[in-house]
Formats: sequence, C-alpha cells, structure tokens
Amino acid sequence: MSEAVIADSAPVAAGREGTPVATEEIVVLDYGGQYSQLIARRVRDCGVFSELLPHHVGLEEVAKRKPRGVILSGGPASVYAPGAPKLEQGLLELGVPVLGICYGMQLLVHDLGGRVEQAEVGEFGRSDLTVSEPGVLLAGMPREQTCWMSHRDTVFEPPPGFTALASSSASPVAAVENVERGIYGIQFHPEVVHTPYGQEILTRFLTEVCGCERTWSAASIVEEQIARIRKQVGDGRVICGLSGGVDSSVAALLVHRAVGDQLTCVFVDHGLMRKEEGEQVISAFRDTFKVPLVAVDAEQRFLERLNGVTEPEAKRKAIGAEFIRVFEEEATKLDGADYLVQGTLYSDVIESGGGTGAATIKSHHNVGGLPDDLQFELVEPLRALFKDEVRAVGAELGLPERLVWRQPFPGPGLAIRVVGGEATKERLDVLREADHILQEEIRKAGLYRELWQSFCVLPDIRTVGVQGDERTYGYVVVVRAVTSDDAMTADWARLPYDLLETIASRMINELREVNRVVLDITSKPPGTIEWE
Ligand code: XMP
Repeated sequence: MSEAVIADSAPVAAGREGTPVATEEIVVLDYGGQYSQLIARRVRDCGVFSELLPHHVGLEEVAKRKPRGVILSGGPASVYAPGAPKLEQGLLELGVPVLGICYGMQLLVHDLGGRVEQAEVGEFGRSDLTVSEPGVLLAGMPREQTCWMSHRDTVFEPPPGFTALASSSASPVAAVENVERGIYGIQFHPEVVHTPYGQEILTRFLTEVCGCERTWSAASIVEEQIARIRKQVGDGRVICGLSGGVDSSVAALLVHRAVGDQLTCVFVDHGLMRKEEGEQVISAFRDTFKVPLVAVDAEQRFLERLNGVTEPEAKRKAIGAEFIRVFEEEATKLDGADYLVQGTLYSDVIESGGGTGAATIKSHHNVGGLPDDLQFELVEPLRALFKDEVRAVGAELGLPERLVWRQPFPGPGLAIRVVGGEATKERLDVLREADHILQEEIRKAGLYRELWQSFCVLPDIRTVGVQGDERTYGYVVVVRAVTSDDAMTADWARLPYDLLETIASRMINELREVNRVVLDITSKPPGTIEWE
C-alpha cells in the first residue's frame, strides 16, 4: 500500500467560537509547512488540546489562550529570504516553553545568534540521527535513530547558551535546547511516521518541558461538548440533516446526548446512496439510539430531476437544489426549530478562513449542503475536532463500526459515478451492485480502513465480450481505490492482484449487464478522485 500523502495546510486562525475550554492548550504557529496540521494532530494524540494559528496571528492572540507551550512549525522559506516570516515579537518572553521544528528551529537559532547557512545540498527524506547529548528533550532515546528531514538551510552552530543535542550527516546541529530559557529546536519532523521516536519526543516536550497533564480524550470531548450544546440550545428545538457520513452522524449523536428529543434528524434518501446504506443509517438512529428521525424517500423526485441531465456540474446543481427543497419542506413541517446542526470540522475551519495562502475548499464540496440563509442558529459540535477525533468520539458514543469508519462519500452520490451520461435508475442499480461487490471484497481483505476511498465508476459505453460461447455487449465497470490523507492529493492504491481478480470475476459473473472490469491507476494530481 502506498504511503499517505500529506497536503499543504492552510494557515488561518480558528475562531474561538466552538473551541473547547480545554484546561491546557498548546499553540502551534504555522509557518506554512506541509505538516503543520499534522503537528497539531500529533499533539492531540498525546492527549493535549492544540490549535493551529497563523504565524502572524499576533502575540495577544497567543497569550489569550494561556498556552502551556508554543510550537513553531516548519515552512518553505529561508530565514535569509526577503520577507521571510519572522518570530513573533515578545513570544520568547511570554514565559512558556517554545519548540521550533525545521524552519521554526532555524528561526530561533538565527534570531538568538546561532549560525544558519545554506548548505551545499539539502537534506530531504530519511536521515540517520546521532544523539550526542540527550539533554531534556531527547533523554532516554537511542543514540542512533532515523528521522525525516526536509530542509535546505542548515544549522551549523547553536546560539550562545544552547546545547547541541544531535546531528546527521548533512546537519551538524539537528537538535538544540536551552533548558533555563525553555527554548528547544529540532531540525527533523517528529510529527511524521518516518521519525519513529517523533511521538515520544513530542510527548517529552509536552509533559517534561511544558508540564501538560494529557487529559484531552474522546471521553473528555464528549463531556465538554454536551455541556456546551446544552448551554447554547437551552430548551430550543434542534434539527439535523443526516447524510449517512460519520460527521453528521457523530454531530447528531452528541446533540441527542445533550438535549434528547429536542432534536429531530432528517434523512433525505435521494436514491443515490450505496446499497443498504440508507437502511443502516435509519436502523442505527431510529432503532438503536432512539433519535427522532424523519426519513424521506425522495428517490423518485431525484430521478425525475436528473432526467436528461448529463453534464457533471449540472447534475451537482440539480441534486443540490432538490436536496435543499426536500430538506426545507421537512424543516417547515417541524414547527419551531431554532437550531441547525452542522458537522463542520476543524480542518474546514482552517481551510475556509482565508488568510495567507489559504486553500479554498472546492465549491462542489458544498453541494448537498444547506444554504447560509436558512433561518437557524448553527450548532457545530465538531468545529474543534480533526476527522480522527470525530471517529474516536463516534466510537465513544457507540456508533456502529460501519458508520464510524465509513469512507467519504460525495453529496451527489452515485449520480456523479455514472459518467458521461444520464444517471438512470437502471444504470444506478448496476453501479450500486458492482460497488457492493467491491466493498464486500475490500472489507473481506481487511483493506477498507486503509483506503481513503474505494468505489466503482460506470462510464456510458459498452464493450464486446464473450461469455458461454455467446457474444456480449455490456457495461464496463471501473474500479477506483485511492489512499490519501485529506483528498487534496491522492495515490492509487496497489490492491493485490488476487483481490482484483476476485472482484472482476464476481462482477462479471454476478452482474448480467457487466462484461468488463478495468482499474484506474491515476494519482491526484493529475487526475481527480472522482471521474466527474
Ligand atoms: P475530487 O474528485 O475533486 O474529490 O478529487 C475530492 C473529494 O471530494 C469528494 N467530492 C465531493 N463531495 N460533493 C461532495 O460532498 C461533491 O460534489 C463532490 N465531488 C467530489 C470526493 O469523493 C473526494 O473525497
């Protein structure tokens, strides 16, 4: 299986709205490094709440959070480049420990009088690290270890008063510390899996240096959010659109735990879901969790709306508009709902806030969402959480494994996987059955969780085949399976040949309409994950 690709993060201040009042917090200042979000996630993995803020957010914003420590991320700049991001004035006088990673370390070393220079060659990828003096940061760790490097500028001498802790062949000074001043730096990336002792180093910084207690957990998130939702909603009525995905499911369950039957969920089945998915959602919410649920069977309406529509964006628009119409009809029936639950995640908050070099979320990601002008106040219980935390909270709340680990599924559903043609009931059914076989086999092979997405595409073509001495003229099913960390980039998954063979022969044997199966081996970029 290929390694997950980590895409650029977008450095933007997260609003305080919805941010938990964690007892302790680490601020990660983002200098534009590709792993910045990952640093914040790894800190949380250690049980400490963290926020990712842009490096230029201002001292006041940092101080306001009363952080137990500050981490400076990596970044693409050289400290010598004109306009290179600077260290926030006064940051080192805040009286909290600071850890600089990669560019963050170079910035500290440069500002404090050490020697940073451009080296002959950069150092990218795996490196052997030798720990010469463990100090506080690297105490208890092996003298020789591997680490992940990604830099061109190099630290040659630590600043006065600092101890050099480690080196690699291309980095004479790969880690430094000044325990009295509480300033630490590492040239390598502790947040990526290719640095085997990375998590341990981060943990040491958080516990030994910052004195954090590691109380951030799925259970504490649940408790905190329930209190927060109760405070916001009071005895008001709440409505939630369930999509079948993990975000809306977890958001709905949290709200239900908080305010019980003041919540009504609306599940619009547009007939474009995978096989049995609608039933699973209905059974989990209505039967297991006893959440008041309005399930609308709108398949016919959507099919009619899609009649004659072949262009991808036109399909998206038609589905999006119909979805809003159905949802609004149901919402009006529920007299007096004041609040609407949305499954906004922390990564959405980071990505949509503008700011330096922020990536805009593609407009199509909002299709199937709801317009801003609905007359509700928003309840966003996942606003401070990363996806893996949402899954952990889902498991904590008892959400079935199938829902907790469901792969992302586009709002317009199977309609945008019947490509180059109209999404008719007949084609959707063929695709649904093929997709069901794929899912079954992927799960059986134990690969479902490893893949970001696995699905089938049904192009609007037929090809000739021969089955049982007869000529056939049938559909082609495309198998698409990708690994990714966030869908911004993706790699095609190297599925085992035996598995591919089983999938292909099952599809052809079990589905009369299908006589050919092909595999998509395009990464993103240049391809996109979906075909439309
Ligand atoms: P692409 O195809 O742009 O997809 O590489 C990136 C991710 O977005 C999902 N996707 C959508 N999700 N509505 C959605 O809610 C859409 O219209 C839509 N189009 C693509 C896609 O499945 C992948 O995870």
